Amino acid sequence: MTNRTQEYGKHKTITRSRSMPNFETPPIEPMQIRFNFCTSAVQPEGPVLTRRMSALNGLFAREDLRATEASGADPTVYSVVSSPVPEIARELPQSITTIRPGTVGGEFYMTKGHQHPDPQGEIYLGLGGVGGLLMFDGQRSVWIDMAEGVIGYIPPGWAHRSVNTGAEDYRFLAVYPGSAGHDYSWVLEHGMGQRAFSASTGHVLTPYSATSA
Ligand code: PA5
Ligand code: MN
Repeated sequence: MTNRTQEYGKHKTITRSRSMPNFETPPIEPMQIRFNFCTSAVQPEGPVLTRRMSALNGLFAREDLRATEASGADPTVYSVVSSPVPEIARELPQSITTIRPGTVGGEFYMTKGHQHPDPQGEIYLGLGGVGGLLMFDGQRSVWIDMAEGVIGYIPPGWAHRSVNTGAEDYRFLAVYPGSAGHDYSWVLEHGMGQRAFSASTGHVLTPYSATSA
């Protein structure tokens, strides 16, 4: 007769050598996460982040116009709703970002943009509306048109920012390694290589210009 420890020991070698080397007890259980396409709600819901104009100092070329809006109506520019999967190593957290339509001095509403301090890749999946995924590695700047059903791949080491180029909310799902982290200071210092402005053709990309005083 074998006890539980012996049974576990018997299977442990096989399991570990095939698929789960050094894996420790996961902090959360496998789960179903539902997304509501009408309301953008995530169930069960994790942390929710709302970024208003007042939180976007130094982002747009026309800082003067941004500051005026921030001290007035201070509109919401984007929100990020996360699932309960924690941002820790080996987990794959997800979040839904919704960027409202709008411009500041003709420059489309956008996310702050960041680098991953732990340089790992990330994927975005367009859920609704139209926008762009702008990436910058310090030398080259790449723009990917985003829409429902489009997957944007962010390779390790590329700073990334999302832009709403349409007249409706632009929404996308992000899935990223839990240890990646968010470094916003690198983008504030180096920019993103390009800026996206409204144009009669939709959007136009211009070389990056520093924020006005
Ligand atoms: O993990 C990501 O890259 C996204 O979930 C972003 O954090 C999200 O779109 C908000 O952008 P930012 O973090 O640059 O404000
Ligand atoms: Mn990221």
